[in-house]
Amino acid sequence: MAAMDSRRLLYLQRMGIDVWVRRTDAAVPSLRPETAEESERTPESARAGEVSVAQPAPAGEMPASPDETVREPAGTAAEAADWETLRQQVLSCTRCPLHRTRTQGVFGVGSQTARLLIVGEAPGAEEDRRGEPFVGRAGQLLDAMLRAIGLDRQTVYITNILKSRPPENRDPRPEEVAACEPYLRRQIELLAPALIVAVGRVAAQNLLRTDRPLGRLRGQWHRYGPRETPLLATYHPAYLLRNPADKRKAWQDLKAVRRALDTEVSA
Ligand code: URA
Repeated sequence: MAAMDSRRLLYLQRMGIDVWVRRTDAAVPSLRPETAEESERTPESARAGEVSVAQPAPAGEMPASPDETVREPAGTAAEAADWETLRQQVLSCTRCPLHRTRTQGVFGVGSQTARLLIVGEAPGAEEDRRGEPFVGRAGQLLDAMLRAIGLDRQTVYITNILKSRPPENRDPRPEEVAACEPYLRRQIELLAPALIVAVGRVAAQNLLRTDRPLGRLRGQWHRYGPRETPLLATYHPAYLLRNPADKRKAWQDLKAVRRALDTEVSA
């Protein structure tokens, strides 16, 4: 236990979060110091076991995609596919023009029995080259965030809203999101995770089908899909690299995820 806590302390430090260690209990990390922002409590609704339904996400369909974007009937291939078939579909996907500029489709990484699913935005340059999500700088921070709550990329599952890299890392276009959505929906069906964490605005807004800003979506549990899977939105690690002051809020979110996993909030 002490070894686990000191490891968590190390990972928090690697995340760039200053930690305060009580002399009498050097193994237990806590945030410091008590500024007004830090003493802000995690919203009640983000406490383990108190899942509130903020924006129930409809189970179903994404908006129809423009004909020139989707070259096959939306969702028909993906919706009954098994895991390996789905993976092959993503790797060979031509449903939107991004296939012309990507190196390869990026399906996801992790355990098919993961209780936690992490959904990001889209592959970047490094992910496009290596075929794995979150392997660049943002991915290193995501790894540190996961380790801070005793997880790693092999025990969770990590994927993106888009499976192909948008050129110049521009924001995903609605028709690209629509073209890719059957893949993510089927991944979530097959994984049946206990919890979903949406990292960043694009993931949160698309999964929750809302245009509310991330700042208003984070800090509370939402529900996704027909299984009403608890979903928490938090900051994207790339954003946290640019705005390290918000790592403290991200840490509050991570602690809520840890508590939820520990208490099996998903039922
Ligand atoms: N950012 C994302 O949202 N996903 C990745 O896979 C990499 C960077």
